Amino acid sequence: MLVTGATGYLGRRVVTRLTERGIPVRALVRREDERAARLREMGARTFVGDLRQPASLHPAVDGVQAIIHAAGVSGHMGRGGNTPRAVDEQGTCALIDLAVRAGSVTHFVLISLIGANFVDQSVHFLAKRRAEQYLRSSGLRHTILRPGTLMADWATAWERYGRRGLYPAIGSPEKRLALVSPDDVAELAVRALWTPGPTSRTYDVTSGERLTPRDVAALYTAAFGRPVHVRTVPVWPLKAGGWLLRPVAPNVAEVLRFLAALGQHEFEGEPERVERDFGVQLTPYREYLIQSRPTARVKENV
Ligand SMILES: NC(=O)c1ccc[n+]([C@@H]2O[C@H](COP(=O)([O-])OP(=O)(O)OC[C@H]3O[C@@H](n4cnc5c(N)ncnc54)[C@H](OP(=O)(O)O)[C@@H]3O)[C@@H](O)[C@H]2O)c1
Repeated sequence: MLVTGATGYLGRRVVTRLTERGIPVRALVRREDERAARLREMGARTFVGDLRQPASLHPAVDGVQAIIHAAGVSGHMGRGGNTPRAVDEQGTCALIDLAVRAGSVTHFVLISLIGANFVDQSVHFLAKRRAEQYLRSSGLRHTILRPGTLMADWATAWERYGRRGLYPAIGSPEKRLALVSPDDVAELAVRALWTPGPTSRTYDVTSGERLTPRDVAALYTAAFGRPVHVRTVPVWPLKAGGWLLRPVAPNVAEVLRFLAALGQHEFEGEPERVERDFGVQLTPYREYLIQSRPTARVKENV
């Protein structure tokens, strides 16, 4: 089993789930560092490679039975040429080609992005859409998971929002968020390999809750025992910046367009279909916060 993006927020959770089940894991990493060492401690075999250099992926793909492709560009977009187009689109297509050529791959799980099928104003969504289309036409048995925003675990939420007491809401603070637990997505990616069904499946994955930014700020306020306020960021400056900065700072412009797209659209998952097909119960955010910091105080407060 090959896991790409194994050092990432989602990928390391996939590796954990596989190694806990005693499944041999190859973990793709971009460099030898302490994160790679931690993956080896967990029982994975690490392979150094970069999706922008397909030749570097050969040893990791050679003879592998399944691939969970959780690598992608998120957060920082474009540093050192690591753009959504180069990684999420071209890198993914190159990996798919290698998987086809290897002849041993019986299932390819692609982590895409909710909205990849209809959002047009950001390269990030388009790159994911093109990768999905390439996978569908590859002939490989596959599952495409399109997660909503991955829930911040307790520690991440504290660092990002608790410390500063601010939670950003793009667009309206009353807009419904499309959140999903990263642990649930990791579990679905693993279960996809053994869940019988058609050769080509795609799922929009969210917890199905109707949480708004105000609700999330209230959850954090309770969890951290200090106020977390919503800071509303209107969509129009993001859109304007996305167009104006395009010629001079294309990567920054793409980040702004990506955020504007998140603010403009309401994304719907298919929780009932996901739960039925995979035999899981998707985790509500309150529950996820408790699980990710299971102390009595958080249980009481959240
Ligand atoms: N985060 C979200 O809310 C969210 C929502 C929906 C979908 N997704 C999708 O879920 C996937 C994982 O997201 P995440 O939040 O776990 O992201 P993350 O924490 O930023 O992890 C991304 C992973 O991809 C690796 N990577 C980046 N560029 C690469 C390259 N050129 N070659 C090989 N590996 C490369 C990174 O390696 P390094 O550690 O070396 O940088 C890291 O392991 C992505 O495809 C993302 O689009 C995320």
